[in-house]
Amino acid sequence: MTYLHRPIIDTIPAYRQGKPAPISAGARSYKISSNENPFDPLPSVRRAIEEQTLGHINRYPDMRGWDVVERLSARYGVAPEQVTVGCGSTEIITQLISLVSGPGDEVVYPWRSFEAYPIIVAGAGATSVQVANLPDGSHDVDGIIAALNDRTRLVILNNPNNPTSTSLSAQDARRVMRAVPSNVLVLFDEAYFQFNTDPSTSVAMDLFREYPNIVIAHTFSKAYGLAGLRIGFALGAADVIEGMRKVSLPFGVTDVAQKAALASLDVDDELHERVLSIIERRSHIVETLRAQGWTISEPYGNFFWLALGERTDVAAKEFVEAGLSVRVFDGEGIRITVGEPEANDRVIEVCGKLKAMGL
Ligand SMILES: Cc1ncc(COP(=O)(O)O)c(C=O)c1O
Repeated sequence: MTYLHRPIIDTIPAYRQGKPAPISAGARSYKISSNENPFDPLPSVRRAIEEQTLGHINRYPDMRGWDVVERLSARYGVAPEQVTVGCGSTEIITQLISLVSGPGDEVVYPWRSFEAYPIIVAGAGATSVQVANLPDGSHDVDGIIAALNDRTRLVILNNPNNPTSTSLSAQDARRVMRAVPSNVLVLFDEAYFQFNTDPSTSVAMDLFREYPNIVIAHTFSKAYGLAGLRIGFALGAADVIEGMRKVSLPFGVTDVAQKAALASLDVDDELHERVLSIIERRSHIVETLRAQGWTISEPYGNFFWLALGERTDVAAKEFVEAGLSVRVFDGEGIRITVGEPEANDRVIEVCGKLKAMGL
């Protein structure tokens, strides 16, 4: 029907979620299209949900998520007023963008990167300034610095970058921070932080005390494996966090998500082992693919990028036929999540076949 609405909405691209595993007769199929964690929830986390939450789902959650906030503030050595939780880090990013930008304002970020950025920026009525990545898929830091102007209200850095899985160096992060005016915020989206093995990587927390205009977004969705519960968090200056709270979704983070996050923070060692195993699987896949003849930028997230360009469509069909749903960016490439061992073996097989086909 025709209804009155903000015209800007018509320009927003719809978020395309990673497709579910394709249906294939006989063999099991796999979803490796959303950078999820392939491990089942830890028993202690499951127990915390069952024992601590199910009895009072008729009640609203603690809107501020104090238990989680306090735990994180102790962990990072910052005041609780410098921490906030959101309904996934997607909501954290949304809060920040709607806090600082509106019509006439610009948000500068690398592209291609997390596909929610342009959607959220357009939803706020602001303008996206997308700075094309370098040929290896990493941020073009000179380009990002050159894009700054009086209209810039936020700069987003994504480390490791989704979908290219590249890392941002500490040196480059510092270059950006030196160039951005001190009253313009810089978001370090570190959703895949725990998988980043780059020895020269930027760690936003290292710059945090030096630059009060930094906001750090982390999530429990990836390394912690809680994507379905929707909880992420931000660290920032107390007044920025206060502003983010004002535009947050009231009661957005459920009690189940909060209790699961707390229980996960108790078992960091177990989760770290899982992260290490994903990192090992990642190295194995990428080394094998390179031996097959693929050129792949060193990946630092729980996923890697095949820069297939025009060959993307042909390759995508082969993955689907093999019972694998991967993330396809038409004409650009394919992002593949490191998944279950069998899924990874199948990825290697498909890639071998693609090479044999001359791709
Ligand atoms: C770079 C990046 N940031 C943020 C997110 C948001 O994750 P969530 O909302 O589950 O915390 C994602 C999810 O894929 C991502 O890739």
